[in-house]
Amino acid sequence: MIEWFSTLDSTMLEARRDPQLGRVIVADEQTAGMGRMGRVWHSPPGEGLYVSIVMHPSPLLTLALGLAVRSVIGEPADLRWPNDVLLGERKVAGILAQTEGEVVIAGIGINVAQSSFPDGLDTPATSLSLEGIPTTREEVLTALVPAVERFCVLPSEEIRRQFEQASSYAIGRRVRAGDREGVTCGLDSQGFLRLREDNGSETMILAGGVRPI
Ligand code: BTN
Repeated sequence: MIEWFSTLDSTMLEARRDPQLGRVIVADEQTAGMGRMGRVWHSPPGEGLYVSIVMHPSPLLTLALGLAVRSVIGEPADLRWPNDVLLGERKVAGILAQTEGEVVIAGIGINVAQSSFPDGLDTPATSLSLEGIPTTREEVLTALVPAVERFCVLPSEEIRRQFEQASSYAIGRRVRAGDREGVTCGLDSQGFLRLREDNGSETMILAGGVRPI
């Protein structure tokens, strides 16, 4: 059942207040939208899809969520480990998965109809509308919920394989991750990103994210 609110502080916080498995919480607007690493997710009314889904924990869940979002947006969408969804070099969707007791709250923000974004974003942003993909939040949500169900039950090896195929960042891309620099060389079995540094050593990127150089 989908619960659609006109305004919330954050769909993540609403899910935390009553973390019943299967809740799908949507808001037209969030007054305290949360991004990864303590960032703000700018959530103006009616322009983005802001949704949280209360789910069973499963392996490689955030990667599976990225694949689900990409399947809704379409093939041109790129995935930047661990879970940014990009069109070109611009971010069109973000994913935030938080554990709450026995469940995981999967938060997904998709820029649908924005025509501009605030200055100073960590990654330049775009929206489906700016990219000439006409759709509505309702249509996106209708496709997204079954896609999440489909991708999150895949075996982790399959999630890893599909992510490596879908993401231009997964293999052979020169990136910076924190204070490390190198070329990506795929994901390990737990979904961590492998980075070959210039001195030949291999490092596993466990958290945070990567930026192109
Ligand atoms: C990120 O890329 O930093 C993650 C962004 C996640 C945003 C979504 S919008 C719906 C849900 N509610 C929130 O407050 N955040 C997530």
